[in-house]
Amino acid sequence: MQKQYDFLVIGSGLAGLSFALKVADKGSVAILTKAELQDTNTSYAQGGIAAVTYKPDNYEKHVEDTLIAGDGLCNEEVVRMVVNEAPERIQELIKWGTNFDREKSGKFDLAREGGHSEHRILHHKDDTGREIQRALIDRVRQHPNIDIFQHFFALDIITQHHLGVLVKWRSTNIECYGVYALDIKNKEIVTFLSRVTLMATGGTGNLYSTTTNPGIATGDGIAMVYRAKGTVENMEFVQFHPTSLYNPNERPSFLITEAMRGHGGILKTIDGKEFMHKYDKRASLAPRDIVARAIDHEMKLRGDDYVYLDCRHLDAGELTNHFPNIYEKCKTLGIDITRNYIPVVPAAHYLCGGVKVDKDGRTVVNRLYAAGETASTGLHGANRLASNSLLEAIVFSHNASVHALEHFRDYSFRIDIPEWSTHGVRHPEEMVLITQSYKEVQQIFSVYVGIVRSNVRLKRSLDRLETIYHETERLYQKSILTVQLCELRNLINVGYLIIKGAMRREENRGLHYNIDYPLEGKMKMEF
Ligand code: FAD
Ligand code: SIN
Repeated sequence: MQKQYDFLVIGSGLAGLSFALKVADKGSVAILTKAELQDTNTSYAQGGIAAVTYKPDNYEKHVEDTLIAGDGLCNEEVVRMVVNEAPERIQELIKWGTNFDREKSGKFDLAREGGHSEHRILHHKDDTGREIQRALIDRVRQHPNIDIFQHFFALDIITQHHLGVLVKWRSTNIECYGVYALDIKNKEIVTFLSRVTLMATGGTGNLYSTTTNPGIATGDGIAMVYRAKGTVENMEFVQFHPTSLYNPNERPSFLITEAMRGHGGILKTIDGKEFMHKYDKRASLAPRDIVARAIDHEMKLRGDDYVYLDCRHLDAGELTNHFPNIYEKCKTLGIDITRNYIPVVPAAHYLCGGVKVDKDGRTVVNRLYAAGETASTGLHGANRLASNSLLEAIVFSHNASVHALEHFRDYSFRIDIPEWSTHGVRHPEEMVLITQSYKEVQQIFSVYVGIVRSNVRLKRSLDRLETIYHETERLYQKSILTVQLCELRNLINVGYLIIKGAMRREENRGLHYNIDYPLEGKMKMEF
């Protein structure tokens, strides 16, 4: 079956939905999402979205904080562009119906998070993402030009390769004509043809056993673009959030927002002693890479499974008013955050690298844009500043929409695209072949490619992954496609890029920390 749309959007998070809303008045739009519309990382965002609003804050300070966190790898021009555009994009979110908390005076109630020199995080209680997602879903559902395809799993982008033309690596004339997608409910593969496509499939937290990301975050878009010979970069920079709730059997791990530390929460070891001042003068509000490594270090030194976040000294009314969901969640585990310590551990949270794009969100593949967590824009460099990713998603989706609207009529549909040539006709003999490999991949990444790395661990991870890669490719070639198999394959592709990136980076920078390289100027730790 074949379908044609002017604009094809893969993903229903902030990046995908905001792009769809911007282009829909000018052409037909299809939004594909592999689960329900609201099943996104966006829905899980707690802290909020960073933007300069009032004095004493100013653009220069936000730029400076972003550059410091990025540890020398940000593209300063991009940082300035994003920071300057932020207020306008926030106004659009409000116009679309998002509510941000305000003080009695009507001014935004701004929070502060790690690495920020000012209070500049707009938020909706402690569930900002859910509020943004709600507002955008309401809007896209009302738009007559937008068709929504839930439970459609994008398999691969369609390029000249599918017309039998050999596409070379680093070729500048690769074109994207749409995607092949698995209609999960009807078990058939549909060819979606487009004039332009936006890849907005989010992150890849499920490479790790412990992650704040929901199950959808399996790096599909990055893997698809890599297989199509597009450019992917900065994959070694995986961000671990310092404070997810320690509750070993819960997946995804429940986040304890950094805004709680911005509000005055203090990290302590389980004997009640503060430790962050030993690692950074900003203590509990240092950038995430530093806090996550410090926690990891303390846990290893002491042999503990977690550290504590202490909020007991804070005004109880204010605490529960600002963080009602965290309060309720902890209560279900018998923890009253106004009276008890909160046990926390770092968890895989965000991928800074991804599909390389320019300022207009264009990838090296013609007619293909990328935005949101899937994209590598130059904003985050080696480490993302808290609450800069929702901002990045709306800014790059906006820029991509402006560029796409100027150019989409230049492209025609390629109606000579063949139907998907199914690989195999058999069901995998046993699902355990997939589920066990998935667990093994997560083990490999958690143990060898985590917060602290070494050359031996990286080499070992690559060797192990290669075995699973070959097994999975064989299975893929002969099997009827399932979501689980495709996600596993994508995670392996993306994992390979992370390991390769980590091996090539022969230094310590930002989120990439390898004990085999010198630590001058970095936090020194002994192992
Ligand atoms: P997502 O919102 O993840 O959407 C991805 C979409 O792609 C989903 O609809 C998914 O189903 C779809 N998809 C994936 N693969 C396929 C496929 N093969 N076929 C079809 N569809 C597919 N950032 C901040 O700035 N501030 C915060 O406070 C904040 N808090 C966070 C808290 C948590 C717990 C988490 C997990 C993240 C947080 N982040 C925060 C990060 C931020 O939420 C994400 O980076 C951002 O929302 C990503 O948006 P996105 O649109 O790129 O992707
Ligand atoms: C948080 O609320 O701590 C998450 C913020 C982010 O990931 O940007």
